Amino acid sequence: MRIAVIGLGYVGLCSGVGLALKGNEVVGVATTEEKAALINGGKIPIYEEALEESLKACLKGNSFRATSGLASAVASSSATFICVGTPSASDGSIDLAQMKSASESVGAALKKTGEYHVVVVKSTVIPGTTEDEIVPILERQSGKKSRKHFGVAMNPEFLREGKALSDFLHPDRVVVGTGDKKAAEMLRKVYADFGAPIIETGIREAEMIKYASNAFLATKISFINELGNLCKKLGIDTYKVAEGMGLDKRIGKHFLQAGIGWGGSCFPKDVKALIAKSREEGARMKIMEDVVDVNASQRKLVIEMLKKKVPLGGKKIAILGIAFKPGTDDMREAPAIDIIKHLQAEGALVQAYDPKAGDNARRLLLDVNCHASARDALKGADACLILTDWPEFAELTDKDFALMKNKIIIEGRRILDPKKVGGYEGICW
Ligand code: UGA
Repeated sequence: MRIAVIGLGYVGLCSGVGLALKGNEVVGVATTEEKAALINGGKIPIYEEALEESLKACLKGNSFRATSGLASAVASSSATFICVGTPSASDGSIDLAQMKSASESVGAALKKTGEYHVVVVKSTVIPGTTEDEIVPILERQSGKKSRKHFGVAMNPEFLREGKALSDFLHPDRVVVGTGDKKAAEMLRKVYADFGAPIIETGIREAEMIKYASNAFLATKISFINELGNLCKKLGIDTYKVAEGMGLDKRIGKHFLQAGIGWGGSCFPKDVKALIAKSREEGARMKIMEDVVDVNASQRKLVIEMLKKKVPLGGKKIAILGIAFKPGTDDMREAPAIDIIKHLQAEGALVQAYDPKAGDNARRLLLDVNCHASARDALKGADACLILTDWPEFAELTDKDFALMKNKIIIEGRRILDPKKVGGYEGICW
């Protein structure tokens, strides 16, 4: 099938390349000519496992190309996947500006198409958005009727940054939200050989499945963090408790790793948007509000623990790990940002290391010395905080920490190997 993908961030690029790898002919629409040219040259503007090699293979096989010409990409395709960003507005609600602008352009392009076309919303949008906002724009701009002249479906993404291409190619499930038989049939064809169950729902259910999934995962993490704080006081190993709970199939072992909590471009924004919507509807989600509070308090906890061991003014604090999780250079809503800013506000000097996020950290955080290795960041430090569970930190030994002025180590993510390093304290273990 010929498919247009609007938006080439990590979701659009991974979905586009993934669809191309599955035998479709994909045109990806970038916001600028420069970005399209970069991608057509086989380069990607983000760090994402296996994506660059796969993109190069698809470019070589002519199954994927990027363009900045949205109208011709849509007009020459049978389906258009909208994968633009839906960030948070200042009040926590969802900012639909990119979504609306993309829908207007797609609608205008549909005006000229003769064949049946399906518009697929992949971006995360609050329930009701597709039917109440996007469909009317598409109809107005195209002068056509949805379900009659074109189809609309909501097909949420469940892609983890860093593993997004693999998650696209090997999904646990595919959710196709549409009340439209023809649109559903086309999407069933697209996902026919993905080896995953396809669940058909209404559009609003599909939108909510995405929010419910992220909100539940964030809840699981805040739950284990709160429990972990109690476990620590009782001298109980939180990770053993999580293992014991996780073997119960009804609970599952994933997302029970206690630590400094969740960040990233998705959980914080989606949980906030869900809370904002629930308030707007007069159906307050108290559990979700507490999930956010617990997450914020983990960041404060790590600083309180540090301050008990060392006064911050004028002290050198080594930070190992800045990205919101390993396998990415993304720092959006990373716990490290809040923690570093707090340390600096109290007069500490931060010397950091992250295997991938160093360049982003230099741009986004003032006065942080970003070093080329963990050892460099540790040199002469009065204390060290471990804030991202990069696998290479598991290789650190007492010899590396001996480079510090004082060996005070607080682990915010459980990654150090106790056989190689002694005398450190975990946030909730
Ligand atoms: C998340 C979801 O996992 C994806 O399914 C979803 O598609 C995506 O958001 C999205 O909405 O686009 P992502 O933000 O890339 O993906 O990252 P996760 O791997 O889910 O991790 C989120 C945060 O939770 C990270 O800060 C991570 O360190 C933290 N986390 C995760 C924990 O603190 N403990 C855990 O046990 C697991």
